[in-house]
Amino acid sequence: MALVNFAVDFGNGYVKAKSNKASFVYSSKLGHQSDLGTSSLNELEDTGLSIHVFNRKDEPSYVMGRDLSEAIEPSKLINTSGTSNRYSVKNFKRLIDFVLADLASYEDNESVDVRLVTGMPSHELSMPSKRDAFHNYLEGRHIAKKNGKEYVVNVVELKIIEQPMGTLLNEFMNDQGKVHKALTRGNVVVVDLGSGTTIIDNYKNIKRVGGEVMNSGMNQFLSNIAKKMSNQTGVSFTPEQINQGLRNQTYKAEDAQASYPFDRLFHEETAETIDNIIGKYMEVVEQENMINTFILTGGGAHVVGDAFVHEQDNFYKVKNPQIATVNGYYKLACSIDMKNNQ
Ligand SMILES: Nc1ncnc2c1ncn2[C@@H]1O[C@H](COP(=O)(O)OP(=O)(O)OP(=O)(O)O)[C@@H](O)[C@H]1O
Ligand SMILES: [Mg+2]
Repeated sequence: MALVNFAVDFGNGYVKAKSNKASFVYSSKLGHQSDLGTSSLNELEDTGLSIHVFNRKDEPSYVMGRDLSEAIEPSKLINTSGTSNRYSVKNFKRLIDFVLADLASYEDNESVDVRLVTGMPSHELSMPSKRDAFHNYLEGRHIAKKNGKEYVVNVVELKIIEQPMGTLLNEFMNDQGKVHKALTRGNVVVVDLGSGTTIIDNYKNIKRVGGEVMNSGMNQFLSNIAKKMSNQTGVSFTPEQINQGLRNQTYKAEDAQASYPFDRLFHEETAETIDNIIGKYMEVVEQENMINTFILTGGGAHVVGDAFVHEQDNFYKVKNPQIATVNGYYKLACSIDMKNNQ
């Protein structure tokens, strides 16, 4: 039987998933069902929020989904990243099982054999201990219940690639699975502005030849603004409030009493962030004239992308930067199908 193609980008901040039947962007955090304040699945549905209950055998129930931060107080959410070795963290493994069960819930059968394409930050992929830990956990059977119904996902074929390569495949692979020579015979730089990391990678003839991973990203950016706002106003602000103000494009942080503009702090922080990234970029790329293509990706491109491209006008921002990587993973999965059928 043909394998079902699943693609997942397990970001530090957001997990992005795609199959032929579904696609979603969730926070990478989990909540305890007991913190929901509703006692039944029906009540949960009545809230109108897009969150679901997941559990593995003999374990308590967790919630995950698009509207998680609206359903559970942010301070009660469980991080699945942020340690030096995410791949051994129990809650990260839960997240993996739940995301796979969620994708499976859109299939015709409760049990599916899957080809999974996913990625790791580039430097981690080259560390055998981390790569093997991730690989060994992903391969094989995953069983979890979503909203009380059990799903079995058997990962039969697994491909783990460098995260930025997902964006590159999305840009350069056509619908027939053919990769453009700008990537196979070109010299490309990609900057991925993530939540927890900023990746600067250089690919030559589709192989990574250099790069740098900065352990700071949009989380740090938001939290710097929140801290400065708190110092200036004497009112305490969270990074989430800044995030909201950016997403709704008001550049204002709201609390119960008032709304506080942070556009000036935003511009200052943007300038500083871009300076730092360009500094690192200069270390990675010694001879800019050897590079053919300069690409900016990651959800952070929604936030500081235009300012970055203004400063470094050889770069271009990809379309839908937060999901470009998972879309590329999915294209790769489908292209393997095409090759097998030739
Ligand atoms: N439409 C949007 N408007 C404003 N900010 C956005 C938007 N979409 C994404 N972001 C921001 O992008 C960031 C998340 O980016 P992304 O999903 O690429 O990170 P990640 O993959 O989880 O992290 P990492 O790559 O470090 O593991 C968040 O800070 C989020 O607020
Ligand atoms: Mg990412």
